[in-house]
Amino acid sequence: MELTDKKVLLGLSGGIAAYKGPELLRLFQKEGAQIRVMLTSGAQAFVSPLVLEALSKEKVLVQDDFLRPLGGLIPHTHWGAWAEAIVVAPASASFIAGLAQGDASSILAATIMASRAKVILCPAMNELMWSHPATQENIKRLRSFGYTILAPETGALACGDIGPGRLPSLRKIVEFTKRLLGPHDLKDHRVLVTAGPTREPIDRVRFISNRSSGRMGCALAQVAWWRGAEVYLIHGPLSVPPPVGPTCLHVETAQEMLEAVREYLSKVDIIIMAAAVADFVAAKPLDKKLKKRPHFCLELVQAPDILQQIKLWAKDQVVVGFAAEEGPQLISEAQRKLKEKGLDLIVANDISRSDIGFDAEENEVLIISRQGTTKSVPKGPKNKIAWAIWDEILQWQRDYVSK
Ligand code: C5P
Repeated sequence: MELTDKKVLLGLSGGIAAYKGPELLRLFQKEGAQIRVMLTSGAQAFVSPLVLEALSKEKVLVQDDFLRPLGGLIPHTHWGAWAEAIVVAPASASFIAGLAQGDASSILAATIMASRAKVILCPAMNELMWSHPATQENIKRLRSFGYTILAPETGALACGDIGPGRLPSLRKIVEFTKRLLGPHDLKDHRVLVTAGPTREPIDRVRFISNRSSGRMGCALAQVAWWRGAEVYLIHGPLSVPPPVGPTCLHVETAQEMLEAVREYLSKVDIIIMAAAVADFVAAKPLDKKLKKRPHFCLELVQAPDILQQIKLWAKDQVVVGFAAEEGPQLISEAQRKLKEKGLDLIVANDISRSDIGFDAEENEVLIISRQGTTKSVPKGPKNKIAWAIWDEILQWQRDYVSK
């Protein structure tokens, strides 16, 4: 887990969204983070420290604790030094104003100022307060301090208005924290990942597809983003939620995926084709619903091979393919595809096993390079496999490109 043992200080300031604090704390805990909580006096009006104390199993610091030694230590400097990330959710307009001016009169602002931790501020307030020039100026200033600002989302607000002001989803807050605390070893890279199956129409309501869930491609996109890359994900219909952070583009058919890949290719330096693109499409899809009949012969023709095309368009991009094969021919087939499609690397996975690969939570892969090196990655959750694939791509670049 990306947040295992990471020290996260969750700060709550005075806004209605403070009621989501306990839920956010639980989510951070589920991701393995060590978490402490600090409340401004405004936040205390919305949520009880007792709830947060019971959940975090740690003392929760409130305004009254400011400057009162905690086990002989000064609370704001001690907690400021402890934290690797300080996440303020919600950050109210007045909290933002105080911090932007360096006003350390609240225990939370003082802790941020007395810390080297990465800071994420999640503003949540009435839409007019958010768009007010004073708030916007303060936000600009806080950005210039190097703080990450997660802009509020648009939706129904507590006051009854509809507009930008809602706290971003809790998952988004956690994902941004992972990226901020991640290794940043892909920060100089722009990557394109494809995921999921494609859907090829037969008639207006029917289609040809396959059992790919999109999990492996989504994991590759998510992990690359955590590690600092700028990520584009082009995906067919997914059975899992898309990753948070990458720019996601939904397509249906192989032809649409081909066009999207062509459009984005020049923006990136690494491409991974993890999508299970259809190999066949209907020769003449009907534009109305086909009536029931005793026999129907469907003529299929070959789908465009995106990877084959990419090699014609790609300049210096690293191109990585996937080979989903059954049993004994896995390696020879992967090697054949690597060569035929002119790839730099290929990730081979065995789809004859139900516990890994297609539509499974886990995978086990062999990564083969065009230089002939192989790296086997033992069975594990797809996020873990995705980390290993990115490690291998970076290693391959160090070994064969940067020399
Ligand atoms: O289907 P096949 O086994 O040839 O897939 C190998 C690789 O080629 C995968 O990376 C897949 O995403 C890609 N592919 C493609 N266009 C297709 C079929 C597969 O780019 N029409």
